[in-house]
Amino acid sequence: MPARTPPRPNWQGYYRWTARRPPRELLLLTLNHIGWERRPRRPRTAIEIGFGAGNDTRELLRRGWRVLAIDQEEAAARFLARRVPPRYRGALTTLVAPMQGLELPPADLVYASFSLPFCPPEGFPRLWASLRRALKPGGHFAGQLFGDQDEWAGQRPLTFHRREQVVRLARGLRTELLRETVEEGMSFDGPKHWHFFDLVLEKPRAGS
Ligand SMILES: C[S@@+](CC[C@H](N)C(=O)[O-])C[C@H]1O[C@@H](n2cnc3c(N)ncnc32)[C@H](O)[C@@H]1O
Repeated sequence: MPARTPPRPNWQGYYRWTARRPPRELLLLTLNHIGWERRPRRPRTAIEIGFGAGNDTRELLRRGWRVLAIDQEEAAARFLARRVPPRYRGALTTLVAPMQGLELPPADLVYASFSLPFCPPEGFPRLWASLRRALKPGGHFAGQLFGDQDEWAGQRPLTFHRREQVVRLARGLRTELLRETVEEGMSFDGPKHWHFFDLVLEKPRAGS
């Protein structure tokens, strides 16, 4: 029997489903960890990969960050454009492009909430290398990777990692958070067995 192509995700439905949510806990935790400066000496720059409905993009903008927001869906860019108040628009650059193959510019924060697993497995090593290069000394990465026990492993052409692989990816960076979650929960598509890793990593400054 020919292999069945999995259905294309209904991203527009997902954006509507998530649009009323507050900013993600991992973003708030990371921003608290980085610390709040009312008048930073220079504007701080964040890259958000797979911004979806844009809830977290808006939170970053509200807190004074300049944001390069990347998503491969035009629909996400349209959705976000309608939701960003005019006073923040100058601080936002939106890029509609697949994350795989991108050379990311330098940033103080690379943030990817439940999006890196959607990178095709063959593109992931290059994406991760680009992401590590983009981090300025003292800069942070925050985001999730899916674990190999996730219900979607083997069903969808996404990227999954075993714990030891996650630890290897973090080598050379300071691990501020590595939290593994295995639980029954909900996804946009219905009940799901989740297995994922929350990560917050910091690129050490020279000499530290
Ligand atoms: C599960 S959603 C997460 C959205 C949001 N960050 C959140 O936490 O709710 C994944 C997002 O990644 C985007 N995406 C999927 N594959 C992508 C790819 N290869 N390159 C760039 N964006 C992609 C989707 O359009 C979607 O907006």
